[in-house]
Amino acid sequence: MADEIVALFEDVPPGFVLDATLGGGGHSEQLLERWPQIGILGIDRDVDALSAAQIRLARFGDRLRTYHCRFDRLDEAMTALSIDTLSGALFDLGVSSPQLDIAERGFSYRNDAALDMRMDRTQSWSAADVVNGYTAADLAHVIQRYGDERFARRIAAAIVAARPIESTAVLAEIVVAAIPAAARRTGGHPAKRTFQAIRIEVNGELDALAPAIDTAIERTVPGGRVAVLSYHSGEDRIVKDRMRAAATGDCACPPELPCVCDAVQTVRIVRGVPRTPSKAEQANNRRAGSARLRVVERIPDVATRGRR
Ligand SMILES: C[S@@+](CC[C@H](N)C(=O)[O-])C[C@H]1O[C@@H](n2cnc3c(N)ncnc32)[C@H](O)[C@@H]1O
Repeated sequence: MADEIVALFEDVPPGFVLDATLGGGGHSEQLLERWPQIGILGIDRDVDALSAAQIRLARFGDRLRTYHCRFDRLDEAMTALSIDTLSGALFDLGVSSPQLDIAERGFSYRNDAALDMRMDRTQSWSAADVVNGYTAADLAHVIQRYGDERFARRIAAAIVAARPIESTAVLAEIVVAAIPAAARRTGGHPAKRTFQAIRIEVNGELDALAPAIDTAIERTVPGGRVAVLSYHSGEDRIVKDRMRAAATGDCACPPELPCVCDAVQTVRIVRGVPRTPSKAEQANNRRAGSARLRVVERIPDVATRGRR
């Protein structure tokens, strides 16, 4: 999908595009190479990712500005870097390949390491706190909600019985053993959903999303675009909701009547039904399987009064 994402920003007005999840800088590199009218405001909560991206993108000089924070602190980042408006924004949510592949980050059931999973290593709260500190009911809720795991209660009970759990390998073994043998043979690695759920909880991944999308839309100039790639149904629901709110001004009037609530529409939907990756894309990229892309374009504010 990378080509398609980069193409979305071809005609945006000159200025800075927010890369809210700079990661290794892959998307930003292509954006900077292809579209000379834009610079990148790159945010990441992971300092290792920011350092890697700064090295990779050094040749673009001051067309790249970076800031270490959670993306819902966008206003603070723009003030600190003296950027008033955005020409667009890109969110490529979730975890990066280096976070998964570097064993000591403690994200992966494939490598043995201390339970960690913090995207921002300055945060004190880690996977060990969730796994060893939550009640069985809270753990089951997290695993069911963020992992869509049918056996969440069994897994939570097994975790509580085996505490203290110090490592990813031990956690993975406990999860696998808690899932009935027949169910282990479908849907990828049996611990995948539980690890995803714990990671989302540790990093508060859903909490930051709605305010960040709202702010990105608000700070984008007309003609600019906001694109979000999400990998989890809970994320996609939030993205859809915030984009629809901007496209309708959050109008609460009955649909059969004209709008009387002073709602203001600020975007038009470019891609409302999420684009899902092709089989070939899924075969090339292990994260692509669950990706959903939604896009809006900023328009001059329009009162929806009487327009429906
Ligand atoms: C999927 S990777 C991005 C990869 C990037 N698009 C590239 O081309 O290299 C997601 C990145 O976003 C960061 N991230 C995730 N949630 C974040 C948040 N709420 N605030 C800031 N950074 C976040 C992660 O630390 C990770 O580096």
